[in-house]
Amino acid sequence: MRLRNVKNAKEIVEKSAYVVHDSTSHKGKFAEEVFFNNNPIHLEIGMGKGNFLIAMAKKYPHLNFVGVERYESVVCRALEKLEEEHLLNLKILVMDASSLGEVFASEIETIYLNFSDPWPKKRHAKRRLTSLAFLPIYDAICKEEKIIVQKTDNVSLFESSIVSLSIYGYKIEDISLSLADTDKPNCLTEYEAKFMEQGIKINYLYARKK
Ligand SMILES: C[S@@+](CC[C@H](N)C(=O)[O-])C[C@H]1O[C@@H](n2cnc3c(N)ncnc32)[C@H](O)[C@@H]1O
Repeated sequence: MRLRNVKNAKEIVEKSAYVVHDSTSHKGKFAEEVFFNNNPIHLEIGMGKGNFLIAMAKKYPHLNFVGVERYESVVCRALEKLEEEHLLNLKILVMDASSLGEVFASEIETIYLNFSDPWPKKRHAKRRLTSLAFLPIYDAICKEEKIIVQKTDNVSLFESSIVSLSIYGYKIEDISLSLADTDKPNCLTEYEAKFMEQGIKINYLYARKK
């Protein structure tokens, strides 16, 4: 993700009603207390500039969407797009995914990992969002049945995800090495749109653990 320094990013984020500021105080009751409903929560980790999250929130108004992004300057780009919208089913958390266990408890229905940083070096493998360091965190925040949906251009990350998800008890129920050649419903991310323009194939998997 190219980071352009956004002037007043901190202030813009602090003022936004889309950003949940007291995130740890709703643990276990996020839907009721933040969205004021009991609809399922779908979480995108590493939401970037928000194209996927915004499109999904519009397409599925009966679901709650939460985007997680660690950089305020990136979140500001999503907030710019949201200025024109009035989406009651979308919220944003500015935080690192490693602390998600402080925010949620057994309440997430689906996790989306779109074009996550690949961390190709072996010594950084634990930082991959599908590594065995993150899967226990997802266990704690997800409902009894856990669903992870991944899209990536990066074959090494995709392979390492298949390995760690399988070791951790997930079944890969659906997989494609060229998402564009399938008829699956799909909302594009910023990275995905660029890769598709360049003719790069997108790997996709849908994994479930009961
Ligand atoms: C390569 S970009 C992809 C952005 C977007 N999902 C897309 O497909 O266009 C990865 C994003 O994930 C964020 N990210 C990476 N690791 C993260 C973590 N541990 N917690 C929160 N955000 C993270 C990065 O800051 C970056 O914005």
